Amino acid sequence: MRADELTLEEKLALLVAAGKFHTDDLGGKVRRLNVADGPSGLRKETPEHPEGSPSRCYPSAHVIANSWNPSVAESVGRAIASDCRDEGVDMILGPGVNIKRNPLCGRNFEYFSEDPLLAGSMAEKYVDGVQKTGVGATVKHFMANNREWERCAQSSEIDERTIMEIYARPFAIAMRAHPKAVMCSYNPVNGVYASENPYLLKDILRKKLGFGGVVVSDWGAVHNRARALKAGLDIEFPDNPASAGVLRQAIERGEITEKYVDDSVNRILGLLEDTCESAAVLTVEKREQISLSAAKEGMVLLKNNGVLPLEDGAKIAVIGEMAKNPTVCGGGSAHVHSSLQSRPLDEILKGLLPSSEITYSQAYLGCVPMSLGHGDARRAAFASDVAVVVVGNNMYNETESLDRESLALPSGQEKVIDSVIRENPNTVVVVEAGSSVDVSAWADKAAAIVYTGYAGDMLNEALASVLAGETVPSGKLSETFPLSLEDTFTGHERGNGFSDRYREGVLVGYRYYDAYGLPVRYPFGYGLSYTKFEYSDLTLNCDKDNVAVSFSITNTGERDGAEIAEVYVEHFHSPVERPPKELAGFGKVFIRKGKTVRMTVNLGRKAFAFYSTVYGRFAVSGGTYGIAVGASSRDIRLQGRVELEGDINTF
Ligand code: GLC
Repeated sequence: MRADELTLEEKLALLVAAGKFHTDDLGGKVRRLNVADGPSGLRKETPEHPEGSPSRCYPSAHVIANSWNPSVAESVGRAIASDCRDEGVDMILGPGVNIKRNPLCGRNFEYFSEDPLLAGSMAEKYVDGVQKTGVGATVKHFMANNREWERCAQSSEIDERTIMEIYARPFAIAMRAHPKAVMCSYNPVNGVYASENPYLLKDILRKKLGFGGVVVSDWGAVHNRARALKAGLDIEFPDNPASAGVLRQAIERGEITEKYVDDSVNRILGLLEDTCESAAVLTVEKREQISLSAAKEGMVLLKNNGVLPLEDGAKIAVIGEMAKNPTVCGGGSAHVHSSLQSRPLDEILKGLLPSSEITYSQAYLGCVPMSLGHGDARRAAFASDVAVVVVGNNMYNETESLDRESLALPSGQEKVIDSVIRENPNTVVVVEAGSSVDVSAWADKAAAIVYTGYAGDMLNEALASVLAGETVPSGKLSETFPLSLEDTFTGHERGNGFSDRYREGVLVGYRYYDAYGLPVRYPFGYGLSYTKFEYSDLTLNCDKDNVAVSFSITNTGERDGAEIAEVYVEHFHSPVERPPKELAGFGKVFIRKGKTVRMTVNLGRKAFAFYSTVYGRFAVSGGTYGIAVGASSRDIRLQGRVELEGDINTF
């Protein structure tokens, strides 16, 4: 069907949702589009379940990114979309790809990374997985919604080069999967609301990024439907009875022509056609397997003095109410009302370590150490070979609409960690959080630290598998853990409520810490294993459009394991300010103990380019570039140099 087969009234009705999560079916003339949140699993709000009907909760985006395995993103996307198909949902409101500019942002758990290449690579595959089933994916929030405080009012002030190299880049990479929709953000960008910002929605999204799908608003983000239509916004969510009149008036006054309406309506009709067929839906069993394996791959081992993996036969004290009730997801529209009750960690461990004596003590309630439980925990720790303390944040302090006030864990938990370590130096601290946390109070005293992230329904199964050594941890951090909030660029700064100037430009995350030579607690791309890997034999093969970076990785440890290798481009002399290095490619490979694998990562010219505001395009300046291959951004194992011809006349 095309717009010219509809009346003006029918066309206007398609430009505004007919309910909170669906469009108008024009009395049966077209299909109704049903949409639902969210990136971590299906959150289908019903009158009986306004918080979302019970559904599978998958690992959140930051855990998927910590796996550095795009096929994990694809399989999770496909699993969530399979749940959508079962529930008659045609489009999922995810993935969220906003850059983690500020570690306090309440929605960081919903986003992939501080690095645009890692974020975009995961988003591309998540979209691929979703759309394999015929469900539409919605890449959000376009753009620069990088904090929750005053998100509907404060303008993100960003220069064009930073927009193109950092904040628009995950969307640009996700375009390779042809997402059916993009959701605009609440905030203004450079002084104009995203929902009515032609620079964003037309110049950047459609012209520079080549997006051909449908632009939907965030819920309540439209301030004037006619200005939004003119700027390129196709569907206003949720329903808004006033908008049809605003549109009619604007047409009558000649402020907008019916061509704007027809272009939008034709995109919407295309979306209805593209999301009507169901395909490649996974079985429930397969979805659960995907959730578990994604949680396992996304877990990050931050420290280990050899106490892990736990030995069968050891006496183990499991401590903390989160060991029974883990935080599987953050709060807000991404929160999934999980259909599964987590199994207690101690119970699962008993199955994996049948000869071990395993006890459980609650120790704290929320963030308050329990006087009694705390004493039990201390005694249990003292009497055990290893203590496992589970701490972290929750859906109330890491959530949409709110930013954290600090990076610290809930204070009472730190007291529990400290007192348990005093009783037993062989203490493993498990952290369940959606972003970086300040571990300085206890990290040096802990024997081991495992960062689970908000790993969904199967968090405890995955955690037990890692602790018991059934799974060798392979995750690496997709965001830096700074030493303190004061070390971050944004620090306690959050703008004046009207505008938040992104003064750091392209120096976001590790780009910033590297540029200023700042030490960090755990660097971007950092994560340990139960085995060890050595890198060797770097070769660089350059042709006009590609640099093939080849190297060998040997598993020199006692266990099979997977290794993530990170390839960075190092900048020496550049006509514009550039960070010391930028992630340009990565790969993950499983290597049997004692074996060696050869890996090649191909870097196109874009990997070396900067965005030239002079020529309005990405450009490569001629000269020497470094190629650094690392186990993390601060653990470079191999280095080389390449000479590139420029395609721009710089000084
Ligand atoms: C929320 C969120 C968005 C979500 C939408 C629908 O405010 O910003 O991510 O998809 O509204 O719940």
